Amino acid sequence: MTKPAENSIEKSPRSLDQALRPVSWAEYVGQEGIKENLRILLTAAKGRNHQPEHVLLYGPPGLGKTTLAHLIAKELGANLRSTSGPAIERVGDLASILTNLSPGDVLFIDEIHRLNRTIEEVLYPAMEAGVLDIVIGKGPAARTVQLELPPFTLIAATTRISMLSAPLRSRFSGGTFRLQYYTDQEIAEILRRSAKILNIIIDADSLMEISHRSRSTPRTANYLLKRARDFASVNEEKLDIKTVKKALALLEIDEGGLNQTDRDILTVIIEKFGGGPVGLKTIAAALSEEEATIEEVNEPYLMQNGLLERTPRGRTATKKAYEHLGADTTTAQSKLL
Ligand SMILES: Nc1ncnc2c1ncn2[C@@H]1O[C@H](COP(=O)(O)OP(=O)(O)O)[C@@H](O)[C@H]1O
Ligand SMILES: [Mg+2]
Repeated sequence: MTKPAENSIEKSPRSLDQALRPVSWAEYVGQEGIKENLRILLTAAKGRNHQPEHVLLYGPPGLGKTTLAHLIAKELGANLRSTSGPAIERVGDLASILTNLSPGDVLFIDEIHRLNRTIEEVLYPAMEAGVLDIVIGKGPAARTVQLELPPFTLIAATTRISMLSAPLRSRFSGGTFRLQYYTDQEIAEILRRSAKILNIIIDADSLMEISHRSRSTPRTANYLLKRARDFASVNEEKLDIKTVKKALALLEIDEGGLNQTDRDILTVIIEKFGGGPVGLKTIAAALSEEEATIEEVNEPYLMQNGLLERTPRGRTATKKAYEHLGADTTTAQSKLL
């Protein structure tokens, strides 16, 4: 069996992300609370001629964290320097990034939860006091030299806030913001703009159908729009709701917007483990999926939709999950009561 889109949906090609990335606040739909907080932070900083404080953005993939970093830099008229946790392997890598900043730059560190502790500790004084402590030499002859850094704003993003150390978290004095899943209406609005940019002619009902099945995630919605367009053109069909439904079915995305992996997770919990509770490790092993992917991509969406619960003893499928899968609830029903 061919495995279609599935979890790779979240990793749709960079070029699509870039082509469709909002370039103004007006184009950035939703997340009103975050936008308002950032507006105040940035306006106040500009008014006082101050470098804005550091900001931490977190939430599932594809909800618009990287886009916000771009918009913040643009608002400040600053350069955006982008890097990521995994790319910073040694203290020297970070030191070189920091010392190469120009005054006023915005430094974006994606996947900041992947920074190791030694490197994190270099970041603390940089964030707090704008200095870099460099150790020169080894052993008894070692001494510390302090370099002053140009003023900069760090925007960090993560899908795993729980993996950040408390000292690191506490240094984002500009705010820590959690991105929310989008409403169907918001996604439809995003899709209308995307369709325009990609020259796709599509009616409102079809857009709403894609929105509804997009995991409430802009990146996924844009990906599905493109796939539906491809499906229509290859099969020489009109891009209407019937075609959209066929394209989604081929991608194994169901009426509730779940993909195959989402359903597999619920099925494993229900059929192999009597509805749970069962540990993440066990689920991942049973599905040959990565724990991190399940935890970052699938679970937040399943929980958002009331299909899965996280308890201290493990994951549990809810009554709604049974209903969704049309599973036989009699065996495990008693556990749910
Ligand atoms: N609020 C939004 N309004 C419009 N489009 C958005 C929004 N958030 C995300 N997108 C679209 O989704 C894509 C993925 O967003 P991105 O910022 O890369 O997500 P993240 O960094 O959180 O994984 C963007 O390129 C953009 O096309
Ligand atoms: Mg990103």
